[in-house]
Amino acid sequence: MKGIILAGGAGSRLFPLTLVASKQLQPVYDKPMVYYPLTTLIESGIREFCLISTPHDLPRFRQLLGDGASWGLSIEYREQPRPEGIAQAFLIAESFIGNDGVTLVLGDNVFYGGDGFHHAFADFQGGATIFGYHVNDPERYGVVEFDGEGRAISIEEKPKKPKSNYAVPGLYIYDNNIVSIVKALKPSARGELEITAVNVEYLQRGELRVCRLNRGFAWLDAGTSSSLHEASAYVQTIEKRQGIKIGCPEEAAFRSGFLSLPQLEALTAKIPNCEYRDYLNALVSETKRLKS
Ligand code: DAU
Repeated sequence: MKGIILAGGAGSRLFPLTLVASKQLQPVYDKPMVYYPLTTLIESGIREFCLISTPHDLPRFRQLLGDGASWGLSIEYREQPRPEGIAQAFLIAESFIGNDGVTLVLGDNVFYGGDGFHHAFADFQGGATIFGYHVNDPERYGVVEFDGEGRAISIEEKPKKPKSNYAVPGLYIYDNNIVSIVKALKPSARGELEITAVNVEYLQRGELRVCRLNRGFAWLDAGTSSSLHEASAYVQTIEKRQGIKIGCPEEAAFRSGFLSLPQLEALTAKIPNCEYRDYLNALVSETKRLKS
């Protein structure tokens, strides 16, 4: 399974912050926003990534994440010249996807808690798997409707009258048919290749699985100034209380077995003296203690 991180768009709702750095590079408490979705995919066992952003912002992402090798990953980069739809990512990344399945995550989605994704990845055998998350304001999202037996029966993009409170978060798992499905799509009225149209196609083929994320799971989107602030406050609260970081790619890569303990130790030693280094040092020490 390969991973695409979509981190383009104008970020106009975060103006003037986005004059100097794109939305997905803004801090969510103590880390750049893109660390969170990247960590979610690493925790799900994905190791090969393609990050897509605007020609203007791509160099910044490269500067931040490099080729991924120091984290035991590989990260490629592709440009999306104009925001012509989330589903366009699969055309841009076609050569990266090759013959594999692929998961797309939006660079401004923050997930935390539970094991909802772990099961979905472990159980994935083909078709598409997406998620449903109960929200107060479904009209802002893709909305999935379920029948009495919990089967998905419709999906609509930002409906004026939502048929349920279940929004579709920005993490989508597809088999290799995704590329041919997107190639056959027509742009919507707003001129975009819509991810919801892709999911409707899988639904019509009888190949869509929708997993409901449970109550203990947090899905935050950080697309406006207030939701960005709320996401930061949430991360700070959990991290302070638990002493565990959310969205730490080094830790996720280590726990997923992509980095050995000596590699983690060596990369931690290169981090300047800061709280982030203290955290990774504590992880190294604790692991050594448990091993001895
Ligand atoms: O956050 C989940 C929602 O994301 C889903 O429930 C919706 O079905 C889906 O359409 C999407 O809705 P948004 O209103 O959040 O879409 P938006 O156009 O704001 O794009 C989401 C992110 O993807 C945003 O950070 C910018 C990036 N993006 C978007 C488009 C259309 C790109 O990088 N390129 C694009 O062409």
